[in-house]
Amino acid sequence: MKTTPAQKWWQTAVFYQIYPRSFADGNRDGIGDLAGMRSRLDYLKDLGIDALWLSPHYPSPMCDCGYDVSDYIGVAPEYGTLDEFKQFLDEAHQRSIRVILDLVLNHTSDQHAWFQESRSSLDNPKRDWYIWKKGKDGQPPNDWSSTFGGPAWEHDPLTDEYYYHFFFKSQPDLNWHNPQVREAMWNVVRFWFRLGVDGFRLDAVGTIFEDERWRDNKLPYTVDDMHAFSKAAHTPAEQRQVHRKWMKLFEKQVDLPGVHPLMQELRRVVDEFNDRVLVGETEDISFYGSGDDELHLSFNFPLMHTRLITPAWVRANQAARLAALPPDAWPCNTLGNHDSSRMISSFGDGEHDRELAEVNLAMLLFIKGTPFLYNGEEIGMTDYLISDINQIRDPLSNHIYNLEIKSGTDSQEAALIAARHGRDICRTPLQWKNAPNGGFCPEGVTPWLPVNPNYAQGINVEQQLADPSSLLQAYRLLLGVRKQNPALQAGEYQPVLTGSRSVLAFTRTAPGQTCLVAINYTPKNRTVRVPELNRVSRVILASKTGGHPSTGGKLVLQPYEVWVGELSGA
Ligand code: NOJ
Repeated sequence: MKTTPAQKWWQTAVFYQIYPRSFADGNRDGIGDLAGMRSRLDYLKDLGIDALWLSPHYPSPMCDCGYDVSDYIGVAPEYGTLDEFKQFLDEAHQRSIRVILDLVLNHTSDQHAWFQESRSSLDNPKRDWYIWKKGKDGQPPNDWSSTFGGPAWEHDPLTDEYYYHFFFKSQPDLNWHNPQVREAMWNVVRFWFRLGVDGFRLDAVGTIFEDERWRDNKLPYTVDDMHAFSKAAHTPAEQRQVHRKWMKLFEKQVDLPGVHPLMQELRRVVDEFNDRVLVGETEDISFYGSGDDELHLSFNFPLMHTRLITPAWVRANQAARLAALPPDAWPCNTLGNHDSSRMISSFGDGEHDRELAEVNLAMLLFIKGTPFLYNGEEIGMTDYLISDINQIRDPLSNHIYNLEIKSGTDSQEAALIAARHGRDICRTPLQWKNAPNGGFCPEGVTPWLPVNPNYAQGINVEQQLADPSSLLQAYRLLLGVRKQNPALQAGEYQPVLTGSRSVLAFTRTAPGQTCLVAINYTPKNRTVRVPELNRVSRVILASKTGGHPSTGGKLVLQPYEVWVGELSGA
């Protein structure tokens, strides 16, 4: 008999991403912190999540909101101290909540001591820790762009050389060919593992290596032209063309093969410790390696690359993704993070946003794989367009604003475009209650980003906790259903009703349990007829009616209903 290997904790867990600046403000200074996170652990436990991913909590000049690390083994003073971090970790563990951190490998901050040394002279022992090159006739070494705009090279007058940066110029790329860099970073990994952290989310792994011949792209456009191209692309075909141009622009800078041996090396370091996890910010399934020797998880980003999520979209995504995964690899799904539009805003239809949020959550939790949630989505926080350029914090928006001004757009319109294309939209402070600043920080304190005023329209934790029909209560219910049913956590996925445009239906089968899931994606009653309904032994969930059984192989779903039944043996 084929035995199923025991599930790892990170396969059954539901992760919740905390954006530290915006989650909870313990010392009431307008910036989220560790004390705030600690004070909300019971809230998180009660919500039903099992693990946290913290976006960077390290010391940083915060040019890229912490993705510019200036000390990998410290804690940003505005978030607290290392002792407070340990206390937070202990208290999370006491509640059986695991904690993974963000590891930024590609680059450091230009304020990191490594870079400060590296730039100090041509013969500094750390010179080769970063990528330095001579210019060509007073110009950068080649014509490469930075993904956030402008050239990928910055001239440093101190030594009259250029350093390479794939992201902002305050984020110089490390030279991963240098064994000292690798050892230094692996020691960072060991440091946090010894402290007890449970794993890492790896930032931008695809950008670690570059074409070793540093050849020019010789393209008739730069990254800044891409902004104009995207604005002009209205049809899907035009958008695909813009995407192709984008890929071409960066083909010498991302996804070079050297990254696989590097990930294998990192995996060996991780395997010095028990039961830790690596999840890569990459959708590329080749990062699972061959025979479980690279990352444990990589995000199924294609699932979220659509305007509206439909049953057909999910079935197609699952068919492609599950078929492509290596045999022992485990899927990992998400619908939002700190770089994307908020889930309710991206996948709503403007009329049934609340209902669609609930069915999309059910889909995310019940398809096969580890789900990642993003803080605030549980109360339906929406994108917030900050239209005052002085309040915008994401430097990407500032760059876009400048491009717009240069091309003649008036300043108000430019600020709106900049806000729409930047990432502050999804990073505003969590709305805890119907009080000034959404209860994130006291009245009179200015939060680091303005709070979305819709906290006063019921989009806040306190009111939703008290309201049995709130989205927050739906999250708790659906997370509970997943937790109580092994098939929903670990089972194999099999689509049923494969032609339906309105209902997403599938089974999940684990040793000892099979569940049938049926989700109505429409505002109308829908009748489901599948043979599996003849085997229903128990209704686990009927979200709109509280428990109607199915009769005669037929099930009537209410608008936007989520239905889960347990099936008796095959
Ligand atoms: C990906 C992160 O998610 C994003 O926020 C950041 O700006 C870049 N990597 C650079 O670290």
